This record gives sequence, structure tokens and C-alpha cells, in this order.
Amino acid sequence: MDIEKPIIELRRVTKSFGRQRVLDDLDLRIERGKTTVIIGRSGSGKSVLLKHIVGLLRPDRGEVYFEGRRIDTLNEKTLVPIRRQISFVFQLNALFDSLTVGENVGFPMTENTARQVPKAKIRELGRRCLDIVGLAGFESKIPPELSGGEKKRVALARAIAMDPPPKIILYDEPTTGLDPPRADVINKLIRHLQHEVHVTSVVVTHDMKSALEVGDRILMLYNGRFVADGSPQALLESDSPVVKRFIEGIAEPEELATISRHADFDGRR
Ligand SMILES: Nc1ncnc2c1ncn2[C@@H]1O[C@H](COP(=O)(O)OP(=O)(O)OP(=O)(O)O)[C@@H](O)[C@H]1O
Ligand SMILES: [Mg+2]
Repeated sequence: MDIEKPIIELRRVTKSFGRQRVLDDLDLRIERGKTTVIIGRSGSGKSVLLKHIVGLLRPDRGEVYFEGRRIDTLNEKTLVPIRRQISFVFQLNALFDSLTVGENVGFPMTENTARQVPKAKIRELGRRCLDIVGLAGFESKIPPELSGGEKKRVALARAIAMDPPPKIILYDEPTTGLDPPRADVINKLIRHLQHEVHVTSVVVTHDMKSALEVGDRILMLYNGRFVADGSPQALLESDSPVVKRFIEGIAEPEELATISRHADFDGRR
């Protein structure tokens, strides 16, 4: 295995929806075994970027590579064995409400027809993964009975319950909606998986605390481009006004301008 070769590479990727350009000539090389964090405001294109990595979206221009192989031109069928090596924790969890928690967690393994994993092994691995995320004993519940944070943790358990384990885990907002101690558990879990299982992680988040805790490298997406790329420390020391405002949680001037344009809003009746 060529260690130097990035596990994922995006070359000059551009993606628009109608007249809205979301990704603008974007280059990205994801290093194997590291945790790469992508931050950016809501609507900046973080989820769109992740979807390009698994082929759920295709670029208008540019190329996407997985382990050196171009994947943005592959059809759905050819993508299947590639997607099996990538775990995607969706922003909205995407659990099946009619299946139990245990069945949800085991689903990717039962679905893998190329490799029959024995039922007992699926159950055992599922139980261990639920235990890791702090949901031991939740197997027979169904998702509508769970809190938002519990659903999130089920989705995480499902992402790691793969046999063989995934080469890459893509996390879309893994800590959003969790209370601080639970968010801390997830951050530690992401770290643990990196160190123990040597999985490569890409974490999309607007939770700065989480970004700084889990990231070996943090990139900030803004107007379709990366405006920051470096270690957590480098990000904290950035003198870019856009980066600073994001870190400090301060609105962009144009957002405030929108509010003042509607300053008469309350007196509308
Ligand atoms: N399938 C689509 N069709 C049309 N527009 C889309 C589609 N997917 C995303 N967009 C638009 O692209 C922009 C970026 O969306 P994206 O979901 O990547 O944002 P995000 O950075 O993940 O935001 P958040 O932090 O709120 O999840 C948004 O303005 C969104 O409305
Ligand atoms: Mg998103």
C-alpha cells in the first residue's frame, strides 16, 4: 500500500445547484489514518462535499479519487464495493423507523451480499458497538422511541459495526444536538477509532470544540473554497477575519445587514 498516496482526493471540483455555486474549483487530499475536519457555516457546502466522496453527488467539473481510482465517473453498480469500504454517518441519522436498534446497527452487514456474515456475529458486533456508544441494552427499541442524541449514537454504532471495518468514516455533524458530556464521548470515540482501528476520518462540523479536539487537520470552507487549512493550533492563530469570526461565533457583516434591512419588522402590523 502506498502510504504517500491520499486515500481520497478531489481535484478542481466544482458543483452548482442552479445558479448557486457551492463548491468552486476545490482541491482536497485526505491523508490516510488521520482525522480531517471540515468546518464552515450552515449552507457552506460541507454535506455536499461529503456526498461527493461517496458518489452520492457528482461534480459538474473536476474529479474524485478513492485510493487513486477515479470514482466520479463510475455507475452505481461499480460504486457498491467502494461504498462498502466507506462508512457515512448522515447528518439526519437515516435510521429505519420500522427496524429495531439492533437491526439498524446490523443492517450494513446483513445487506452485504458479497460476504455472508453469520447472524450471531452480526448480533455480537452490534452489541459491542452499541456498548461503545453508551447504548447497551437498547437493541429491541425502535428509533421513534429514542431521543435525538440517542438516534445519533445509534447511527454512529451502525457506522462502526462493519466487518471488515470501514477504511474511512465520514461523519456529518456527529455532535450536533448532543449535550456536552455526550458530545465529549463522541469526540473521544472518533479519536479512539483512529488510534485503535487506524481508520481515516473526515468530520464535518460547526462545533468548534469538537473540531479542535478531534482534528489533526482542520479546513474551513467558505464561498466554495478553503480559506483555512492546517493544525488546530494554526487555525486558532489564523489572522483571516472570516476564520476569526467563525471561531468566535460572530456573524458575517452581510448577515447583520439583512437584519438591519428588516429593522421595521416588528412594526409591520
Ligand atoms: N440536492 C440539492 N439541490 C439543490 N440545492 C442543494 C442540494 N444540496 C445542497 N444544496 C444547497 O447547497 C448549499 C450547501 O448545502 P450543504 O447541505 O452542503 O450545507 P452544509 O454546509 O452542510 O450546511 P449545514 O451546516 O446546515 O448542514 C445549501 O445552500 C443547499 O441549499
Ligand atoms: Mg450539512
